[in-house]
Amino acid sequence: MIVRGGYTISYLRAVGRTSLNAIRHNSTKPFYVTSPIFYVNASPHLGHAYSMLLCDTRSRWEKLDPSKKSYFLTGTDEHGLKIQAAAENRGMEPKQLVDEVSENFKVLATKLNFDYDRFMRTTDKDHVETVNYFWKAIESKGLIYQGSHSGWYSVSDETFYPENQIEEATNKEGKTIMRCKESRSEVVFQEETNYFFKLSEFQDQLIEYIESHPKFIIPHQKYQEVLRDLKQNKLTDLSISRPSSRLKWSIEVPNDPSQKIYVWFDALINYITAAGFPAKFEKHGEKYVSGNDNIWPATHVVGKDIIKFHCVYWPIMLMAIGAELPRQVVVHAHWLSEGFKMSKSLGNVVDPVATYEHYGEDALRFFLSEYSNIESDCNFSEESFSDTRDTLISKYANLVTRVSGAKFNIEESVKFNQESRFEGIDEVITNSALVQAPEIIRLKNELISTMNQLYQVMDDRFVNFEHMKAIQEWWKAIDCANLFFQRAEPWAYNKLIKDTTLSEEDTNNYKLLQNYFVYLAAESSRICSIVISPVIPSLSDKILTRLAVKKDHRSKHYTKVGTDHDYGVNANSKHENPIQRVPIRTSV
Ligand code: MSP
Repeated sequence: MIVRGGYTISYLRAVGRTSLNAIRHNSTKPFYVTSPIFYVNASPHLGHAYSMLLCDTRSRWEKLDPSKKSYFLTGTDEHGLKIQAAAENRGMEPKQLVDEVSENFKVLATKLNFDYDRFMRTTDKDHVETVNYFWKAIESKGLIYQGSHSGWYSVSDETFYPENQIEEATNKEGKTIMRCKESRSEVVFQEETNYFFKLSEFQDQLIEYIESHPKFIIPHQKYQEVLRDLKQNKLTDLSISRPSSRLKWSIEVPNDPSQKIYVWFDALINYITAAGFPAKFEKHGEKYVSGNDNIWPATHVVGKDIIKFHCVYWPIMLMAIGAELPRQVVVHAHWLSEGFKMSKSLGNVVDPVATYEHYGEDALRFFLSEYSNIESDCNFSEESFSDTRDTLISKYANLVTRVSGAKFNIEESVKFNQESRFEGIDEVITNSALVQAPEIIRLKNELISTMNQLYQVMDDRFVNFEHMKAIQEWWKAIDCANLFFQRAEPWAYNKLIKDTTLSEEDTNNYKLLQNYFVYLAAESSRICSIVISPVIPSLSDKILTRLAVKKDHRSKHYTKVGTDHDYGVNANSKHENPIQRVPIRTSV
């Protein structure tokens, strides 16, 4: 059966099955994750940093498995009325403004250690070419027509809103304005001749696709919202151009200099520009197919305010051109600041760069990951941030500092393990008069099994973008290691080992016990550092370097107890603390 737009249901299902499995298991294709591209009308804020962080962490997590590849795309959205107006307000040329502000986003990415593969700018030449190609390709299919259009347009949101979403309000200056009920941004009535894209033709096809792909949009509540909306409301065609007299700063409509391309049509295409569309795709009849080494299709991470563009417009644009739909759209909630929506007038906008300058990269990354879940809005509070940072020091960094203290010798304990000297350790523990043997045996078994499962447990969370839950699992492992170390008291053996009145056998057993306890604490520090590296890459790197863990021993393959026989050299010599305490910031 052929459905509208030339897709067969079986084709859609087939693509669907591949996509669904591909969410995790398509091993030859790189995992392609994208952040939204950011408007360059103002400086980056915490929300932007968060969108990028979700992508960076997930991309780094993929790379912990050396058999997998990943590709992280971020960038800036540089065209449109909003940018044009911002440039006018500052008395600048748009190009000058976009160059300047785009650089600020790059700086943010560098400071927070976002390891992107490409920083897309919609003013980049290859992107402009792809947009032109895209337009012409769907035009040649008869999916673009010219018509007159009137409606309420919000420059700030760069979108038209239907009449029923508009209300009257008074602005800060006491003037009566019309605004969008939900975003509260001002709208103005505009009447003009535009090009339209036949979005409405694909409504049934999109519903069918979404219904057959229950993981296309996460979290599930957002999936249901999109589907319900699509089923209840008829889609109207999308205005995809504006008169050049009004919109000067945008890509020109091919063969019609009197019109400029609508900024969202331009911006969404960036995701496929980065995948080398169309040159790096194979044309199979009406379809564009991406080969195994091509990064497409993408996993898009987007804020909840731009869901319609990513879950309705973009999939339909792809259906129209005949390309595979995104693998998944991950919709995240927003950050509030001290309980309120961030806004300049409330003075509660959190500047991620200033926050980084005070607390450092790792603390900010860790806090944003630990204190958020994609499903509900999260709250930035200076106090919880500072507490989180302190806990990171007192529980994680401190575990490492203790085990790599001058009293112990990690290198020796690793060697003991390699020489299989810990075999039969349960018996040595049991026979030792100094320890609470049954408790220590229980704790060490629990610790080993926690560490051995940690990668898998966290993987189950990360693949669903449940970063906070992954971190909770990690804390459980850290707590387990700290408890074990505290109860086993490896420091208590130093005196006994040196006691010349004891028999050689006793001395050897004490040495064995101490090295075993140090070994397990070192193993825990090593494994916990590897699995947390996607969240706090710098701090974990410092700690792994301190433990003398080789760079190529920091992957998924080394996340079980006893998998690395080659580290610890000089780990117990004097080192600087990997992270220092800083006082809470008093003025934000
Ligand atoms: N340019 C468009 C996206 C085009 S993608 C093809 C845009 N840009 S934006 O700069 O306004 O927003 C970028 C992202 O930041 C969005 O995902 C948005 O949800 C996110 N955030 C904006 N404020 C936020 C918070 N307070 N908290 C979390 N994310 C927030 O939209």
